Amino acid sequence: MKALEVKNLKKVYVDVKDASRSVHALRGVSFDINEGEIFGLLGPNGAGKTTLISTITTLEKPTSGELNVFGLDVVKNARTIKQNVGVVHQEVINTGYFNVTEILEFQSGYYGILNNGDRIQFLLDRLALKPHAHKKVKQLSGGMKRRLMIAKALVHSPKLLLLDEPTAGVDVELRESLWKFVAELQKSGMSILLTTHYLEEAENLCNRIAIINKGEVNYCGSPKEVIQKYSTKKIHIKLTNGDTKEILTSAAESLNNVLAQHKISLADIVDIQMTEGKLEEAFTKVVIAGREAHGAAQ
Ligand SMILES: Nc1ncnc2c1ncn2[C@@H]1O[C@H](COP(=O)(O)OP(=O)(O)O)[C@@H](O)[C@H]1O
Ligand SMILES: [Mg+2]
Repeated sequence: MKALEVKNLKKVYVDVKDASRSVHALRGVSFDINEGEIFGLLGPNGAGKTTLISTITTLEKPTSGELNVFGLDVVKNARTIKQNVGVVHQEVINTGYFNVTEILEFQSGYYGILNNGDRIQFLLDRLALKPHAHKKVKQLSGGMKRRLMIAKALVHSPKLLLLDEPTAGVDVELRESLWKFVAELQKSGMSILLTTHYLEEAENLCNRIAIINKGEVNYCGSPKEVIQKYSTKKIHIKLTNGDTKEILTSAAESLNNVLAQHKISLADIVDIQMTEGKLEEAFTKVVIAGREAHGAAQ
């Protein structure tokens, strides 16, 4: 069964500045997430990532299209969906009278879980919040607040976890430990949807990604596939006659073909070095290509 199915999802908002205008935040988005998969939603600001997450958590109602979580229609099964889904919102909460442990206890109560001490202790421990368990939210640093939000999203052991830019503004060390934790959650069987701007991390962590821009999915597949298709690899060759050659080619091109095209035979080569293309480059190309296609269609 799919953890998430998004079918031709559209969301139109009323423009906040001018009520006579509408904003097409999602223009027919389709993709799905397999059970146990880490799926990355990558896109520039305003692409529609947060809107998509808000429709999955039933915070926003889709204008049209279909949205299923573990086979259940999100709009018709809002209650069950809430039990199955955990979400970490992009914005960090700042206020609150209660301390970290109390917040996690209340959150458990909200899901009808009464004795959740073990789970809460596990999360405090795993997210390095134990030393701060007695602190109120306003006494926490930005990174601690972020970790608290992640703990909150996990108190009810959801089957699908949604992380909206979980590492934005978070320092390198915390980022690394968060990704490690996310990989652990995946091992435990959780399905994860994350949005991020950190492409290198997405490349390492995600089984598949979707590149979204202006409410449309421009690409969906494995990071490796998109790199092969859209990025450039650099081949640096040292020849027996002392010359060096630097060749830029598509990441999908085979070395044999490249050498043949440049009329270089193996016997002439002293040393060869290859630098693989990066997701960042592929991402930029996909977004630009999507923009051009979009412009042409209008
Ligand atoms: N509540 C809202 N009312 C009106 N427009 C909105 C609302 N939320 C988001 N938008 C608009 O929808 C588009 C997508 O926004 P968002 O989903 O936040 O993108 P992202 O998370 O990828 O940056 C943007 O143009 C944004 O201004
Ligand atoms: Mg957003």
